[in-house]
Amino acid sequence: MDEGDVWRLRGHENFGYSDGRASEIHLDKVFRSAKDLSSTSSELEDHIVDWASEYHLTRKRAQLLSGFKFDPEMTVLEVGCGCGSITRLLGERFGRVISVEGNIHRARLARLRTRDLDNVTVICAPFEEIVFAEKFDAIACIGVFEYSGSFVKAEDPYRTVLQYFSDMLLDDGVLILAIENQFGLKYFNAADEDHWGTPYVGIEGYHKRPNSVRTFGRSELGRLLSERFTETRYFYPYPDYKLPDVVIAEDFLRSGEAGEMVSQVRSRDYTGRRPGNFDEPAAVLELARNDLLAPLANSFLVIAGKDAVRGVSFDQEAVAYSSGRSEPFSTQTRIRRDAGNKLSVHKTLRNGSPVASNGLLELANCSSSWADGLSLQTLLISRSSSGSTEVAKLVEPARAWAAAMTAEAKDRDGRMMLSGEHIDSVWGNFYPEANPPAFIDREWVWKEDIPLNALAIRAVYNFLVRLEDASPGAGILKRASGQTLIREICSALGMEPEDRDIDDFVTLETRFQEMAYGLDPARYGKYLRWYLAHRPSLKAARGLKTLAHRVHASLTARFSLFRHASG
Ligand SMILES: C[S@@+](CC[C@H](N)C(=O)[O-])C[C@H]1O[C@@H](n2cnc3c(N)ncnc32)[C@H](O)[C@@H]1O
Repeated sequence: MDEGDVWRLRGHENFGYSDGRASEIHLDKVFRSAKDLSSTSSELEDHIVDWASEYHLTRKRAQLLSGFKFDPEMTVLEVGCGCGSITRLLGERFGRVISVEGNIHRARLARLRTRDLDNVTVICAPFEEIVFAEKFDAIACIGVFEYSGSFVKAEDPYRTVLQYFSDMLLDDGVLILAIENQFGLKYFNAADEDHWGTPYVGIEGYHKRPNSVRTFGRSELGRLLSERFTETRYFYPYPDYKLPDVVIAEDFLRSGEAGEMVSQVRSRDYTGRRPGNFDEPAAVLELARNDLLAPLANSFLVIAGKDAVRGVSFDQEAVAYSSGRSEPFSTQTRIRRDAGNKLSVHKTLRNGSPVASNGLLELANCSSSWADGLSLQTLLISRSSSGSTEVAKLVEPARAWAAAMTAEAKDRDGRMMLSGEHIDSVWGNFYPEANPPAFIDREWVWKEDIPLNALAIRAVYNFLVRLEDASPGAGILKRASGQTLIREICSALGMEPEDRDIDDFVTLETRFQEMAYGLDPARYGKYLRWYLAHRPSLKAARGLKTLAHRVHASLTARFSLFRHASG
C-alpha cells in the first residue's frame, strides 16, 4: 500500500500516460479541498479550466451510465480508471469496485476522488497482469481498450485483453465497454482523431502510427467481441461517450426516428479547429433516413454478456440530459416505446421534485406522446444550407408559426400580448408539418405576459444562434447586424417589431438566462446588445469569450424532441 492509499504491484514501472503534471496537481488540489466529490458535483465543475479538467470534473461523465439500471449487488472490476471520474460513479452505484490504473499519479487521484467510499479499492498496475482470485459480475472499460496496443505486451494485445476480461468475469458476467468509433462522422468532417490530435489517422487505418492506440469500426469491434461474448447490446452516446448529452439504444437509432435528436448534438473536436468539410447536422438527417447513423456514430457503448446480458437494463429508447442549466432546472428526458409500439416522452427534474420555480420562471415534470416530423428550427436550418440569402423565401415555413402566435395574442391597451406560457413557443418546439401544426415541449412558463413581438424576436434570435452553430456559412448570416436580420425575418412573417419590443426582448432574455442558466445579467445584457448591433465583431471579441461560450451552450443545449402537449 502506498502513501496515497493505493495498492501497488511490486516491480511495476509507472505508465507514461498523463495529461501533464500541472493538470494532475490541479486535480489533486481540487479533490483535497472539495466537499462534494460525487459524480453529480457542481462544486467540482467550478474548477474546470481546460479540456483535461473538463474531462475529469464535468458531471456529464456520469451521464454515460446514469440511464442504466444496474444490480447494485454486483462486484465490478474497472480497468484503466484514470483520475477516477467513472470510478466515483461506479462506487456510488455498485456494492464493491476494484479499479486498476497503470499510472501512479492518476491512481492516487482516483483514490482521492473516492476517498469517502469504503467499497472502492484502487490498485496501480497493468490490469492484465493481475489475476484475481475472485471473478467479477462486471468489468468497466471506459476509454481504455483502444490503448491495449500501447500498454499490453502481447502479440495481439486487443484479443489478449478481451481474453483477460472473459477470464476475470463470472460465467454470467458483463463487460461495459466505451470506445470511440474509428469511423465516427466527425472524423470524415475533418475533426482530429481524439487520441492522435491529427485528422484522418483513424479512417486511413492508423498506418502512420501502427501498434499503439487505435479504435475500431462497428463491424470489426462486433467481430472481436463476439469471439468472447455471446450477447452484445450497442448504445450510442452523443456527441460521444466522454461528454454525453444523449444515450440512444440501437433499435431507436436505427429506426430513423432519432435523426433530429442526433442532428441537434454537436460533435466535439477536442484538439483541432478546422472548419468542417460539410454541414454535419444536415448530413445526420440524411444518414438517419438511410440507417447509417450507427456505423458512423462518434462512439459506442457496448454491454456484452459472456453468456447473456444480466443485471443491467436500459428501460427506454433514449435518454437526454439538459446542459448547463442552474441546478433546480436540470432535467432528464426519457423516450419510451409501449407494447403497441407507440413512443412517448417523459421529462423529469433531476433533483426529483415535481416542479422547479424561481418566482417568475417555472418548469414542471411532464409526459407526452411523440410527434413525428422535423421542427421548424431543423427545417429552416436545412433550408439555410442552400446558401440562399433571400430571407422571405427561406422562412416561408415559419408563416404557420406566426399565424398561430398571432391568433393566441390578445390586445392589451393597444399592444398585442401573449400569456407567459408562450415563452417557450420557439421554433425548435414548433412542428409545422404536423396536422394540424403543433407546439411541443414548451417546458418553461414565465409568470408574466409577454409582448407578441418580443416573443417573435426571441424565437428568431434562438433560431439564429442555433443556425450559426449548425451552419455558419448560411447565406442569411452574411448580414452583420443581428437586429437588421431579426427585423427582416419578422417582417417577412408579417410582424414589425418596434424599438420597445427590442428592449423588452433584451430584458426578458436577460432575466430568463439569469434564472435558467445562472448567467450574469449585466454581462449578458451587454452581450445581447452587441449581438443586435454587430455580430461579427462580437464573435471576434476575446473579452467576452467565456460568456459567449456559456450563452452559446445554453442556447444550443435545447433538444426539441422533448415533446409534450403535442396537439
Ligand atoms: C483515456 S483514460 C480513461 C480513464 C478513465 N477510464 C475515464 O474514463 O476517466 C485511459 C486510462 O487507462 C489507463 N490504462 C490504459 N491501459 C492500461 C492498462 N493496461 N493497465 C492499467 N491502466 C491502463 C491509462 O493509464 C489511462 O489513465
